[in-house]
Amino acid sequence: AEAYDSLDPNGNITIKWDLKEWTPDGYVAMVTIYNYQQFRHISAPGWQLGWTWAKKEVIWSMVGAQTTEQGDCSKFKTNPPHCCKRDPTVIDLLPGTPYKDQVANCCKGGVISTFNQDPANAASSFQISVGLAGTTNKTVKVPKNFTLKTPGPGYTCGRATVVRPTKFLMGDGRRTTQALMTWNVTCTYSQFLAQKTPTCCVALSSFYNNTIVGCPTCSCGCQNNNTHPGSCVNPNSPYLQSAIDGPGKYTGQPLVQCTSHMCPVKVHWHVKLNYKDYWRVKVTITNFNYRMNYTDWNLVVQHPNFNNITKLFSFNYKPLSPYGGRISKLVAL
Ligand SMILES: *[C@@H]1O[C@H](CO)[C@@H](O)[C@H](O)[C@H]1NC(C)=O
Ligand SMILES: *[C@@H]1O[C@H](CO)[C@@H](O)[C@H](O)[C@H]1NC(C)=O
Ligand SMILES: *[C@@H]1O[C@H](CO)[C@@H](O)[C@H](O)[C@H]1NC(C)=O
Ligand SMILES: *[C@@H]1O[C@H](CO)[C@@H](O)[C@H](O)[C@H]1NC(C)=O
Ligand SMILES: *[C@@H]1O[C@H](CO)[C@@H](O)[C@H](O)[C@H]1NC(C)=O
Ligand SMILES: *[C@@H]1O[C@H](CO)[C@@H](O)[C@H](O)[C@H]1NC(C)=O
Ligand SMILES: *[C@@H]1O[C@H](CO)[C@@H](O)[C@H](O)[C@H]1NC(C)=O
Ligand SMILES: *[C@@H]1O[C@H](CO)[C@@H](O)[C@H](O)[C@H]1NC(C)=O
Repeated sequence: AEAYDSLDPNGNITIKWDLKEWTPDGYVAMVTIYNYQQFRHISAPGWQLGWTWAKKEVIWSMVGAQTTEQGDCSKFKTNPPHCCKRDPTVIDLLPGTPYKDQVANCCKGGVISTFNQDPANAASSFQISVGLAGTTNKTVKVPKNFTLKTPGPGYTCGRATVVRPTKFLMGDGRRTTQALMTWNVTCTYSQFLAQKTPTCCVALSSFYNNTIVGCPTCSCGCQNNNTHPGSCVNPNSPYLQSAIDGPGKYTGQPLVQCTSHMCPVKVHWHVKLNYKDYWRVKVTITNFNYRMNYTDWNLVVQHPNFNNITKLFSFNYKPLSPYGGRISKLVAL
């Protein structure tokens, strides 16, 4: 309940572990991250999945992903494991990974789309071979304290729960196999955890008055260079390049261009036509965040008239009705 997104009340990211085979000291599992959110995708530089082992497990090997640190494997004299940390952090491999190091749905640099936007890329998988673990479904312990990091914070993960083993339909559709054991973890997003201040602002103008009602001053916080040095940068500042390349890039903390609103993103809503039968607006989105390219962005807009949108130019869209159709939203994909 502490993590709740009112625009997508049922949205979640589910992480599923399917144990596929037992090994002499553990198991091999296929781990899949499913994005069941309506519009919130995970953009570059991608997801980071962490957990704490319940016992003294090690990761012998991984396919389709890797841990960020190996940790201390000094007690293994030969064939050191891929990772000996008690709390490993896993990241996806990059596109172009050699075929032998891939599994289906891997190697997209941690980028995950949504089922609305690109169903073929709404999940991400890797295979993990775990040692010093149990070797039966009674002795295996599920990992604890899952964390899901994306560019910027915002996700909270629940406990892993053992669920009915997944059934897999074989290629010819006439036989199913099943996992030896399956557990699920659900993570939910909270705007409040992610960012205390808004991340975009809206400016308005219209055909009869081109005086723009600009983004309100300080709409995304009012840090200034005196209290928070480097909280914004001017485009010609020598500091700019080092700040983009420097540490902290992954945190998703925006590095914004200095403006009166200090927002990473500005949405400009310009009313072009307003007739009795219909109206038309032009929406312009401007990126002021030097740390993000926002590729594959989407825009969610809530408006009473979107029950009956007639035409959209240059975008695809889907209506979202999280409250049984009473309030319509629009996602431009
Ligand atoms: C996560 O989302 C999926 C798809 O909407 C839903 O089926 C599932 O029940 C949700 N899980 C939780 C724990 O809310
Ligand atoms: C859970 O993970 C978080 C973040 O990695 C860490 O701060 C916390 O101490 C962990 N808790 C336990 C019980 O391991
Ligand atoms: C576990 O997660 C998978 C993938 O989202 C889902 O298909 C399955 O129904 C979930 N199991 C339970 C019991 O929630
Ligand atoms: C564990 O395996 C036994 C059979 O070996 C099976 O009956 C049981 O349902 C399994 N439990 C789980 C949680 O998968
Ligand atoms: C245009 O809008 C501005 C800001 O709301 C207002 O001050 C101004 O009077 C308007 N001009 C006209 C011609 O309506
Ligand atoms: C704030 O600091 C940055 C980096 O030092 C500089 O580029 C920028 O011009 C400063 N902005 C203002 C409004 O002084
Ligand atoms: C954004 O795209 C440009 C051009 O492709 C690239 O040089 C830059 O590294 C990208 N920046 C980020 C933060 O991904
Ligand atoms: C939707 O708009 C069309 C014309 O653009 C109109 O004929 C129709 O009555 C509208 N439907 C509703 C439910 O408002």
